[in-house]
Amino acid sequence: MKRRHIIPATAAVLYAASQAAQAQSLQRGGDMWRLTVGSCANQKIAQPIWQTILSDKPDFHIFGGDNVYASDRPWSLAQLQEAYALAAKQEGMAQLMRSVPFMAMWDDHDYGFNDSGAEFEGKQAAKLALLDFFKYPENHATRTREGLYDARILGEGQRRIQIITLDTRWFRSTLSRPLIPGLPGQERYIPDSSPEKTMLGEAQWQWLEAQLKIPAQIRLIYSGIQVLALGHGWERWGNLPLERQRLLDTIARTKAQGVILLSGDRHIGALYKENIAAPYPLWEMTSSGLTHAWANASEAGPNRIGQLVRANHYGLVAVNWAKSEVQLQLKDTQGRSLHAITIPMKDLQS
Ligand SMILES: [Fe+2]
Repeated sequence: MKRRHIIPATAAVLYAASQAAQAQSLQRGGDMWRLTVGSCANQKIAQPIWQTILSDKPDFHIFGGDNVYASDRPWSLAQLQEAYALAAKQEGMAQLMRSVPFMAMWDDHDYGFNDSGAEFEGKQAAKLALLDFFKYPENHATRTREGLYDARILGEGQRRIQIITLDTRWFRSTLSRPLIPGLPGQERYIPDSSPEKTMLGEAQWQWLEAQLKIPAQIRLIYSGIQVLALGHGWERWGNLPLERQRLLDTIARTKAQGVILLSGDRHIGALYKENIAAPYPLWEMTSSGLTHAWANASEAGPNRIGQLVRANHYGLVAVNWAKSEVQLQLKDTQGRSLHAITIPMKDLQS
């Protein structure tokens, strides 16, 4: 039987309340707007970090994927719905969803199988499960197009932040594996420059190009997998070098100002910078491991600024309009700063 996806009236009310909360919170934020981001939250274990995120009083939050884990074989929608039902009982997460405007993107473990891409057959069912869990309204654009990509503008006039969440799963071609996996730099995948392979798919590429032409002073582009990191052979945009270059070229061609990349997936936190990318330097903050970070992680350093964060953490983007600067900060479960960088807005312009 074909499943109908009807948003209960209460969900629509909650969504409307969340939109109103957005306008209020941005007013309350004054000269400082705070956006939080995090990924990789196992629904089966305690999640005290949500209370820490809430105490940071974010104006906006990005659920960055692996928002639940449901990728055991054989995959089933029931397994995914069970995972979401358990996540719904995490009071901190529920409170954040109730009180802070947000966008949600998936990664592999709430999309399908580990590292899966376009080939995953359950993706439509998984998408509707996500949209229902996060209470997206029935007329939301993501319900009627392929993929989960989305964009929002916060603020107005000279204080506009654009948030773009890219879907790097739905359309993504098969990645190439090395003959001998596990070696540094080719742990699981090697670069594949086949011109027919895609990360975003043509429809999403065209949509992104149009989005980048919309006026905004700051643009946060969220990609589950890392864009700038070069020093490992796990999932990253560098697995498809032509697509990685196309992203940098698209940012440059559209003359999109104020781009900052955000990512997750790796179970580490880190900051990256690529000087020749935009035509202004591009920064990326990877934030992954709300409930389980990779304590023994190591990674060669091209493009990385400073150390890896190996403790559970989330990311904070603090936009200070009065000082014209943006701070990127990785914070632990107690709210302590583990790694931070402050970028003048003028450095995010060509
Ligand atoms: Fe994860």
